[in-house]
Amino acid sequence: MSSTTATKSVTIRDLLAKKQAGEPISMLTAYDASFARRIDATGIDTVLVGDSLGNVILGHDTTLPVTVSDMVHHVSAVHRGIQRALLIADMPFLSYSSEATAVHSAQRLLGEGGASMVKLEGGGITVAIVHALCQQGVAVCAHLGLTPQHVHQLGGFRYQGKNDDAQQLMREQALALQAAGASMLVLECVPEAFAGALATELTIPVIGIGAGREVDGQVLVLYDMLGITTGRRPGFSQDFLADSGDVQAALQAYVDAVHQRRFPQAQHVLAK
Ligand code: KIV
Repeated sequence: MSSTTATKSVTIRDLLAKKQAGEPISMLTAYDASFARRIDATGIDTVLVGDSLGNVILGHDTTLPVTVSDMVHHVSAVHRGIQRALLIADMPFLSYSSEATAVHSAQRLLGEGGASMVKLEGGGITVAIVHALCQQGVAVCAHLGLTPQHVHQLGGFRYQGKNDDAQQLMREQALALQAAGASMLVLECVPEAFAGALATELTIPVIGIGAGREVDGQVLVLYDMLGITTGRRPGFSQDFLADSGDVQAALQAYVDAVHQRRFPQAQHVLAK
């Protein structure tokens, strides 16, 4: 929090209460203080400093080159721009390959960066890492489905959970991550019905990106929803700037559309 805080910050308890009340949770990525300030002014619930900064800020093809120091640099900038939203920081590739490494990385993101929560990709051995972090008092968001740090294992940035076996494995991983102490789950590029059923089964909030309309909240990459991303925009995203005219109006339009369940719509739901 900045020293000029005027309003109460959003906490994980507020997000849980929103899930329980059936109120959609909003999330957007940010990488610098100026955008963070504008995004925070919309009344958004959470801001994620994603390791997507490797793609949209640093120009890499994947998120793999992003380091903890890169993340701390951008998380602390975003932190200076935020007064209200819950700030989440991605733990970059291989920064949580052991419990000790994960605790050290989380210390930097929370202690130096000012984040309130860290996000880790994957199930499997990540479950034990999540448990270790939670035991140390770190708030954790898990991330399943298309996990970009695993791009080479997945054979590309591909839609996930296409069949019953894949969905069953992801469901078991999600339950294990929740049992390990995760406070939230991001679900990326999975079938809408599966995502909705999982959100109903889990007690923690499930935030979707390319996961349809039936989850507890939505996240987009800032540069996708402003139409800045070069190349093909993901089909689950929307260029809010094209319809709004200015940046602040576009940010507000996205947050309002999420809160009022007007985004995503049928055309944003990915076909299998
Ligand atoms: O890195 C990122 O921006 C993310 C979002 C796509 C959820 O993980």
